[in-house]
Formats: sequence, structure tokens, C-alpha cells
Amino acid sequence: MEPARVFADPAALAEGAAVEIERIVRRAIDNRGRALVALAGGSTPRGLYGRLGAEPWRSRIDWSCLEIFWGDERCVPPTDSASNYAMAKEALLARVPIPERAVHRIDGERAPKRAAALYEEELRRITNLELPRLDLVLLGMGADGHTASLFPGTAALDEKERLVVATEAPAAPRDRVTLTLPMLNAARAVLFLVQGGDKAPALERVLAGGESPEPLPPAARVRPRRGELLWLADRAATGA
Ligand code: 6PG
Repeated sequence: MEPARVFADPAALAEGAAVEIERIVRRAIDNRGRALVALAGGSTPRGLYGRLGAEPWRSRIDWSCLEIFWGDERCVPPTDSASNYAMAKEALLARVPIPERAVHRIDGERAPKRAAALYEEELRRITNLELPRLDLVLLGMGADGHTASLFPGTAALDEKERLVVATEAPAAPRDRVTLTLPMLNAARAVLFLVQGGDKAPALERVLAGGESPEPLPPAARVRPRRGELLWLADRAATGA
């Protein structure tokens, strides 16, 4: 695995991520006329979203060419403060000229399996592909090495066919809907953002790769087959 790119603090990490996102989105728009982007939940991307929604980044991105998805969702209504959609809406989507029809949220208010099935249909409808290829997937990582809502030891990690599944998190809100490894690994680019000292042991294991008696953390299993993989971390996440 390539080493992580390390930034001095969360603000520098957010700025570094904005640079990569602008580059990847521009490449997708140049090549295919649009950019399919999956956003991450959790607290880490909030600073990045705020940055993208303000100048100069706001004007550097052609928001009218984006289609927005999510890597995972907590099964709560879209107005709930735990909703990944709500966070992205408040921090970013409400601040940029992106049409409502280009925002494809996971229906956290529905029964999880139903929400997963509907999201899978939506991904196929928008891309017209059996195995859709997102141009950019933003992901975070928990201290236990989970990413999106792929938690250690869960069946969701072994899914081979479905693009989206219902699963459970060890902590509330427990019900989740998540993209699966086949879907994530079909992406053209995956960008991990890792922030905070509690992530240091998991980050070290992910970047060290194989050769361990313990199963690798879920985040280590995100290796796009024909895409770019970037790990961006703040200094604290490297244990420094
Ligand atoms: C979620 C996520 C999840 C998140 C990590 C890191 O819905 O919680 O998408 O995978 O990215 O838990 O979260 P923090 O950024 O809050 O540490």
C-alpha cells in the first residue's frame, strides 16, 4: 500500500483533500461530462465540506455536472442530526448550486433492507451499469478500522453480489445501509480522510497491509481494481 499523505492538522488535511477532489472531479467531467461522487459520513469531512462550499473552492468546481451519492447512511430520518445526508446538506449541499435531482440520498427513514434495495436500483439507473463505477468515493475510517458502514466481523464485508446492503453498527444508530466492497472497489477513485489520534493503530495496520494473523481492518479491503486510491491523514492519525 502507498503511504498516507500526511498533513499538519485538520485544516491542512481538508485543504489537501479539496485539491484532490477538484482534480478528480475535473477529470471525470472532461472525460464523461459528469462526475459521480459519493460523500462520507462521520465528523471528519465536515471541515472539508465547509471548505468546498466556500470560496475559492465553490467557484472552482462545476457543481452542475455533479451527481451526489453516499457511501453509507444511518437509518434515521433525513432531518435527524445523526443523518449523513443532513450533515452534508448543511455543511455543503445547501451552499452550492447543485440541483435537487442530482442529490441521491439513501432513504434512512425506510426499513434498512428496502432502503438498500432502492439505493442499488438508483445507482444502476443513474449509471446504466450493472456494476456502476463512481468517479470518486470519499471515505473515513473509525478507530476499529471500519469504513462506510463496513464493520469488522460483519457479513456485509463478505457480500459479493449486492451493491448496497443493510447492516448493523456496534454503536447507535445501529441500523445502517452501506455500499459493499464490490461497489467501492469498482470506483475510479477512492479518497480516505483520516483524522485524530484514536485512528493511529488502525491506520498503521491498514498501511502495513497483509502478513498479520489478525484479519485486516475493513478499510484495508478497499482497493479499487482499476482506480486510484489515496489515503490522506492528519499528523495525529499517524500517531505523531
Ligand atoms: C459513518 C461513516 C463512517 C465514518 C467513520 C469515521 O456514517 O459514520 O461513514 O464510516 O467515516 O466512522 O468517522 P469520524 O470521521 O467521525 O471519525
